[in-house]
Amino acid sequence: MPSAPAESGKVNGGNLSKAIQAVRGMNDVLPDQTPYWQQIEGAVRHILAAYGYSEIRMPVVERTELFARSIGEVTDIVEKEMYTFEDRNGDSLTLRPEGTAGCVRAGIENGLLYNQVQRLWYLGPMFRHERPQKGRYRQFHQIGAEVFGLEGPDVDAELILMTGRLWRQLGIADLVELQINSLGTAAARAVYRDRLVEYLKAHHAALDEDSRRRLETNPLRILDSKNPDMQPIIGRAPLLIDHLDPESRAHFDRLVAVLEAAGLRYTLNPRLVRGLDYYGRTVFEWVTDALGAQGTVCAGGRYDGLVEHLGGRATPAVGFAMGLERLVALMESTERARPADVAPHAYLALLGDSVQQDGLLLAERLRDRVPGLRLLTHCGGGGLKAQLKRADRSGASLALLLGGDEAARGEVGLKHLRANRDQESLGEDALCRRLAALVDGSAAGH
Ligand code: HAM
Repeated sequence: MPSAPAESGKVNGGNLSKAIQAVRGMNDVLPDQTPYWQQIEGAVRHILAAYGYSEIRMPVVERTELFARSIGEVTDIVEKEMYTFEDRNGDSLTLRPEGTAGCVRAGIENGLLYNQVQRLWYLGPMFRHERPQKGRYRQFHQIGAEVFGLEGPDVDAELILMTGRLWRQLGIADLVELQINSLGTAAARAVYRDRLVEYLKAHHAALDEDSRRRLETNPLRILDSKNPDMQPIIGRAPLLIDHLDPESRAHFDRLVAVLEAAGLRYTLNPRLVRGLDYYGRTVFEWVTDALGAQGTVCAGGRYDGLVEHLGGRATPAVGFAMGLERLVALMESTERARPADVAPHAYLALLGDSVQQDGLLLAERLRDRVPGLRLLTHCGGGGLKAQLKRADRSGASLALLLGGDEAARGEVGLKHLRANRDQESLGEDALCRRLAALVDGSAAGH
């Protein structure tokens, strides 16, 4: 028996079917926010091109073992935060929690890394099943840059200077602080690790549960603990920077010398260890105190062992990634970083059915003749008053009025919406000149 047709539910106040909501921690970026995103993406494209970087696009899904092998089995990301599932073939796949692993995989697989220098960048969504809070989401977006084939520290310095340039361009340079550290070589870390474990074992009673577990698996991460009770012990722990191998020490000193010569301020943070296992030598973070607990907007470092570890030839590498949601929040916090105006220059009101077609064609000609013009054409009919109200709400500076009389005279009425000036009537050539001046003026304003 055919069932009765289902009634459609209402989005608001409907009681038949409930509206479906987005997944927790995964956000829509709404039209009032996209100008910030576009501003960041535009500035990044521009600056990365200026430093000779090429864009690479990787899949959002990779084999689970890629992340386990690169980020590390005993990291928060791999242990607790990955979106892992079996596909229909029974393969274990994971939504990428970060971009470096996939970028290295793509570089090896496509022969981009052997015996050559590559400067690559990518942009896209990443997924981590963390507890959502301000600045921490389950789907978030990174722009990352990775350089292969250079041992640094010159390129480490260049990467950091490039991010500094980006903050200046975005108008947030005075809100972020650079922290740097060196993790030395794997051998130096192994020696240091023993010393640290010895020290921490001597204070075993004072360690929290998480740290006791990490003592066996990943003791360096204990230094990253946010638990206030742990801070006195962490504060007196031996520091890796004091136990660096001589080459790593020289590498770090040369990096610092370039930053100082360039006048870029930094803080040496000897407890900066990063949450991913692939790092060695240079590590850095750009942090802000304007966003609350989630204050790292950009982070990275050197990972000279990863390419070989993932099956490629030994290739030095360094990179970083920035969190776009956090950068947008930072830009929203300051007037200086307001994105360029994207309101239309003009709103074309069409008065009467007879001019609807003429109006659409006029709008096409205006867009042909005035490059950069943002023109909104009224659709859907209605009276003058209603159309002017829409014109006002659109943020346009001018309303263009086309009625039967104007059309017959080959003219268009021009009403100033933001200035107290008389209405005018212009032929199409004069109108184009006026609109071109408006477009130039608004472009010069930014
Ligand atoms: P990461 O520190 O895990 O490093 O992430 C880099 C940045 O992504 C963070 O500083 C933060 O701005 C943003 N981010 C991370 N998790 C979240 C989240 N749950 N919600 C919002 N934003 C977040 C990496 O991912 C490395 N792959 C960076 C790298 C590239 N190192 C070398 N090359």
